[in-house]
Amino acid sequence: MSSVRRSAVTGVGGYLPDEIVTNDDLAKFVDTSDEWIRERTGIQMRRRAAPDQAVSDLAVEAARRALAAAGRSVDEVDLIIVATTTPDLTFPATAAIVQRKLGCPVGVAFDIQAVCSGFVYALSVADGFVAGGRSRCALVIGAEMMTRLMDWTDRGTCVLFGDGAGAVVVEPVEGQGTTADRGLLGFALRADGTKQDLLYVDGGPSTNGQVGKLRMQGNQVFRHAVVNISEAVTAAAADAGIEVDKVDWFIPHQANLRILEGVAKRLGIDEAKVVTTVAEHANTSAASIPLAMSVAVADGRIKPGDLLLLEAMGGGLTWGACVLRF
Ligand code: ACO
Repeated sequence: MSSVRRSAVTGVGGYLPDEIVTNDDLAKFVDTSDEWIRERTGIQMRRRAAPDQAVSDLAVEAARRALAAAGRSVDEVDLIIVATTTPDLTFPATAAIVQRKLGCPVGVAFDIQAVCSGFVYALSVADGFVAGGRSRCALVIGAEMMTRLMDWTDRGTCVLFGDGAGAVVVEPVEGQGTTADRGLLGFALRADGTKQDLLYVDGGPSTNGQVGKLRMQGNQVFRHAVVNISEAVTAAAADAGIEVDKVDWFIPHQANLRILEGVAKRLGIDEAKVVTTVAEHANTSAASIPLAMSVAVADGRIKPGDLLLLEAMGGGLTWGACVLRF
């Protein structure tokens, strides 16, 4: 069989800011309760970044940990993609700021904006660079400060989100072109801009010149989530040439426990294979998948050779899925 260049995830790292905000903390200033939030979402707490932290600071910490796990140095990084919806500045890209803060050499650096699906989109773009021979050491980072986009008077949204960052290193490996290969094996990416009103931020540089606040019709987003995600997962599995029930670990975007359990049930994935961090992290948008990966790699659940299934859905609406062998 001929040799095929694949893009493999060779290191994973996560970073959470120090401050823990519990549901009871939120109930002190907004009309909600720990019981409601746990029952409807599975969330118990979230992290909030310090006022003097920028999203690039979170990204840099996660990136350092991913590089250490991969045994790579900052000098080797030739591509940085940051998936974020909460950049440090309107421009330059947060990826370029991360490049400077890490001390990486001149290379390629840019951001991806696909909200909660950003990490899956970014991995797919990195796959093009790495499998195409244009990058030998890529950093793909999901980093978010969703707490900076909250309307703290809106109980329907402010209880759902948190801050954090996760990163992976992606490098070329040689494979045989079979499903036994290590690497990114299949993708499905989707967007439907007609659903913008269901989830968006009401500010931007070319409209009102404001940063804006997150607005969501949660129950409408929920309605689309399980069906959309399940379709994308099935398509990504077909792209990879695997059966969904063959995956070792299902690592969904952590928006709501009811959504991720609903998707797992619809797809026939055993509950024991689902990595969930929503209780501790809440919804960290593009950071949630690499953060969840970092937790399950660190505690020894995810092992080299395991088949992983990632999926996400977010503002746009955007959604997507990826199958990879770790
Ligand atoms: N505490 C107490 N009551 C609340 C709260 C709260 N925090 N939030 C809403 N309620 C109330 C509502 O006001 C409503 O009250 P009413 O019946 O008196 O009008 C009632 O609870 C039911 O509201 P729903 O919105 O229908 O509640 P639902 O069961 O749908 O849960 C939730 C809301 C948790 C937001 C859910 O819809 C959800 O998780 N949606 C999906 C979110 C998501 O996946 N987003 C995509 C990713 S995010 C991104 O891309 C940035």
